[in-house]
Amino acid sequence: MSAKILSGTETAKTIREELKQEIAELKEKHNIVPGLVTILVGEDPASEVYVGAKERTSKNLGIYSERYDMPADTSEEDLLALVDKCNKNDKLNGILVQLPLPKHINEANILYAIDPDKDVDGFHPVNIGKMMLGEKCFLPCTPHGMLEILKRNNIETSGKEVVVLGRSNIVGKPIANLMLQKREGGNATVTLCHTRTKDTAFHTKRADILIAAVGVPKMVTADMVKDGVVILDVGVNRIGKTAEGKSILAGDVDFEAVKEKASAITPVPGGIGPMTITMLMMNTVQAAKAAAGLL
Ligand code: GUN
Repeated sequence: MSAKILSGTETAKTIREELKQEIAELKEKHNIVPGLVTILVGEDPASEVYVGAKERTSKNLGIYSERYDMPADTSEEDLLALVDKCNKNDKLNGILVQLPLPKHINEANILYAIDPDKDVDGFHPVNIGKMMLGEKCFLPCTPHGMLEILKRNNIETSGKEVVVLGRSNIVGKPIANLMLQKREGGNATVTLCHTRTKDTAFHTKRADILIAAVGVPKMVTADMVKDGVVILDVGVNRIGKTAEGKSILAGDVDFEAVKEKASAITPVPGGIGPMTITMLMMNTVQAAKAAAGLL
């Protein structure tokens, strides 16, 4: 068997078309233009690529966009002042501070300062708490993108054994929580593995749906999965450069070998990555509608 390739690029394209339409209608019927600000501190090359893609995508969809590129030695105080300014700017419905931040800035202080109603990343404790409780809130973009790609490919989660590798605040913890919730797209039995897990392969071999978010290239090998597994690979690992100087990417899963056993698998690149950015756009539209009392 060779797996169905779950193309995030294709699914994201469909969702973006829907969003473009919705944004045009918001403008036409209500004179509302959703606004997103992206804030990048320092010159991390991967972060620059991500922020560039977020800015480009928002502009393409008709979202009003602002971008701040701050030097690496920006003080926490100055960054807090910028967040505060954006909180007060009615043109901006969403605020995205790209992570990781330089070491001298306390990440939590910055994330907690973002107005939860503008927290389109879904990182504020208010939104994380609401997510845990199953209340309406901004869902963090990568887990949100995973739910959406499963839904749009009619992959059932109810009653399934879901194994998540990695316990980050951005991916592992939230997706594990979302998959066990009592609602459509949830209702799974969830196991969360991490660096102290004794026998990771024991768990991965039992998985109906395996989510890899560890940042170790090709860690999941074919002998670690069962036939018919569905794989969501969140890893974006730079494993070398082409002659032209472009990064060669690999996921956390040994794609070529594992695709022969899986029933469905997301590629890297072109899998979860494009979904993440698209969910940020979806959250920004949701924020604009909420701010206008349309939700
Ligand atoms: N760094 C890696 N992923 C993300 C994300 O989803 N949002 C932000 N703000 N920073 C990130």
